[in-house]
Formats: sequence, C-alpha cells, structure tokens
Amino acid sequence: MDKLVIRGGKRLGGTIAASGSKNSALPVIAATLLTPDGTFVIDRIPDLKDVRTFIQLLGYLGASTSFENNRLTVCSSQLQSIEAPYELVKKMRASIYVLGPLLARFGHTRVSLPGGCAFGPRPVDLHIMAMEKLGATVTIEQGFIDARVNGSRLRGAHIDFPISSVGATGNALMAAVTAEGTTVLENAALEPEIECLCRFLQKMGANISGIGTTTLVIEGVDRLTAVGFDNIFDRIEAGTLLCAAAITGGSVTVTGTVPEHLESVLEAFRQAGCTITIKGDAITLNSPAELQPVDITARPYPEFPTDMQAQWMALMTQAKGDSTIIDRIYLERFNHIPELNRLGANIEIRDNWAKVHGPRELTGTKVMSTDLRASACLVLAGLIARQTTEVLRVYHLDRGYEAIEKKLTALGADIKREKYQEFA
Ligand code: EPZ
Repeated sequence: MDKLVIRGGKRLGGTIAASGSKNSALPVIAATLLTPDGTFVIDRIPDLKDVRTFIQLLGYLGASTSFENNRLTVCSSQLQSIEAPYELVKKMRASIYVLGPLLARFGHTRVSLPGGCAFGPRPVDLHIMAMEKLGATVTIEQGFIDARVNGSRLRGAHIDFPISSVGATGNALMAAVTAEGTTVLENAALEPEIECLCRFLQKMGANISGIGTTTLVIEGVDRLTAVGFDNIFDRIEAGTLLCAAAITGGSVTVTGTVPEHLESVLEAFRQAGCTITIKGDAITLNSPAELQPVDITARPYPEFPTDMQAQWMALMTQAKGDSTIIDRIYLERFNHIPELNRLGANIEIRDNWAKVHGPRELTGTKVMSTDLRASACLVLAGLIARQTTEVLRVYHLDRGYEAIEKKLTALGADIKREKYQEFA
C-alpha cells in the first residue's frame, strides 16, 4: 500500500501544466464502443487508475486498445461481450457509462449495478429512466441492470431530467445519437465534461445542437466513425493545484487550462483575498498575507463544483474567521472532516453543511484517505501542517490525480510516496 509523507511549511511557487480531465475522458472512452468503424486516437488522456480500469473494461468487452504518453487508441470493431462485470464496475462507478453505448450498438446489455461510495448512495435511476424513455426494457436482476431494446433500434424521445446529472446526461447522449428520430434532453448537465463529450460525438458524425445549454437536441444518425480527438484539461486538478498555492501562501501558475471552466472557483479565491491573473490558457494565483473566510455552496455547473468542496474546506481552516460549506449535490460528502480535525482543524458538521472555524494551526499526524477528493484535501492540509503528515491509502488519490506528488514537488513541496503495511 502507498502513503504520501509530507513535511509541511513550504511555500509553493512555479508553473505546472494541467493534465487531461478524468471526468471527460471516461465518457469519451465509453463512446468509442458506439462504432466498429475505424480506430480512435485520443490525446491528453490522463494516466489514472480509473482510466486504466476503463481501458481494462473495454478490453474485457473485446475492444483493442493501446495507451502510452497520454495517447489512447481504441478499435471496437470486434466486441464479443455485452456485459460489464461486477469486478470491474465495483472498482469504478463510471463503468455505468457503457450502458448507453452498448444498448445503442447491440440492443442489449447487462451492466453490474455500481456500488455506493464513501460519501453515500450513488443511484442510477436517472440513467435507467433515460434508457426506458428511449425504448428499452430495463430490469434489475442479481445485481445487474439488464437493458433490452424493444424492436430493432432505440427511438428518439423527450427526456426531462428532474435533477441535473452528469452521468445520466452522458449516457442518454450516447444512447440517443443513433436512435431513430429526435431526442430532446431537458435539464441536461452543463458541465464542461459533457460539452466535451458532445463535441467528441459530433466529430464522430452525431447531430447534436444546443451544446452548452440545458436543452440538447439530438437527431439520430445511421453511422458513426472513429476519429482523432484532444481531451479537455482537468479543471478539478487545476483547482486543487491553485488551492495548494493559496494554502501555502505561495504563487503558482497552472497552464493548459480553459479559465472560464473554473470561474466559480476563481471567484472564491478572489473573495478569499487571492490575486488571480489570466493570460490565455494560464491561471496564476498569488496568495494574500491573510486569507479571508469565504462561504461556498456546491451546486451543478457553473456553480462551485462539489469536487472542489473538500479542497476548499482544507483552505478555509487557514482563513481569518468562520466559513460555511454546504454541498447540495452529495449531502454526505464530509468524510474528510474528522481527519482534518485530527490535524487540529475545528470544523463542525450539521446535516449537509459544515462550519469551519479559522485560522487554526495544523499539526501533522497519520490521516486516512476515504475517497478521491478527501485525500486531495488531506494532502493540502499536510502542506501547511507543522511537522510531518502521512496520508494513508493514497490509492484513492491515484484514481483521479496524475502523479500529483511529482507536480507538488516541482512546485517546492516536501512530499514523498512510500510503501507501508496496514494491520491485517
Ligand atoms: C460525476 O458523477 C463526476 N464523476 C463526479 O466526480 C462529480 O462529483 C459529479 O458528476 C457531480 O458533478 C464523473 O464524471 C466520472 P451526477 P455522477 O449524476 O455523474 C444524483 C470525482 O471526484 N443522481 O451528476 O455520478 C446523485 O446522487 C467524482 O471526480 C441521482 O439521483 O454524478 C447526485 O446527488 C466524484 N440519480 C446528483 O444526482 C441518478 O441516476 C448529481 O450526480 C444519477 C445521479
């Protein structure tokens, strides 16, 4: 098992490039299942555990893949299976993204129900609702979602999502692009990762309009082909690196970004007293002498992202005053709080909101990661905690951050990856 050993107190400085986005890479990789025609070449795919798990799933289904230097090639002409097995889906909830493509391509698929995760249940009812609206019969049996098309092909439909769901929007898009007729998605997710998926599908030959709005109109087409494509940058990784600058009182530039994808987070940094400078695809954060407390509420894009909530909480432990953090997307996404308090933070939890009392001097100790963004939060806290912080079970971190300790080291952090044994 790996841990990260961090000696706090180093002020971060320098320039670092953002990696490709995990949360756009996963649906884009799933969409390669839609067509047997040709070979995809996709660049800026981050080398992450979740990406490698998805590539493993594609191989299990019969696709041929190669992945090197952030370039993924996929050919899905020889698929032999329509089933996403429990062993792989359990490792990564995003495996649910094969539901739409496999149903559209083969008229039948069986996808293991994804488990919950560290921050509560992760339902897939909206994914199933969308497939049923498009003309599939969906049953849940023995822990599997079994979806079959009634007739020869999915049929276009009007799908009105009661809540904004990134995953369900992605699955509905991938199922609708070759359905018979017109599909309208109302209250579609606006996240940049969905916009990226739309542009990838369009390049493959899909007919999608309304991109960048909450109403997407898809005219079904008969044929899609494999294409070359550049994945977008990871806005959550970029936000996390900027948080590392702010929490250490440093000055860091992240390049290769699309600043407007991070506007709500940049605005929060400004309110906290940071100076944000934008030059093309580069975002520079200069820290203030004193961080101001800033209340945030995590909501769907373009509001403050839930995937930055834990990182923001670490930052607010250093702000001069109290701040309130609310998560309207995952009401239980607070597993990082007990560990932050063990480092010396003073954070109260009430229902789905937290009160952070700052500033607090943190002192390093061993802390346990529980999920991807909670582990990022603990790494950030370790960067400013006195003495040494050991963040255990960093396999959670490796799911979503590409070599983050190398990036932080390049910015001046004292952080090392070490092996350790856990008690049986
Ligand atoms: C995506 O998850 C991201 N994962 C998550 O990032 C992110 O936190 C989330 O969107 C919200 O932005 C990937 O893109 C791989 P949702 P997803 O469907 O699609 C409820 C990370 O750290 N819901 O937008 O699963 C759900 O419970 C990960 O990178 C239903 O009720 O999220 C939540 O409250 C964590 N029924 C809300 O919708 C459904 O069928 C938004 O979830 C689906 C979702």
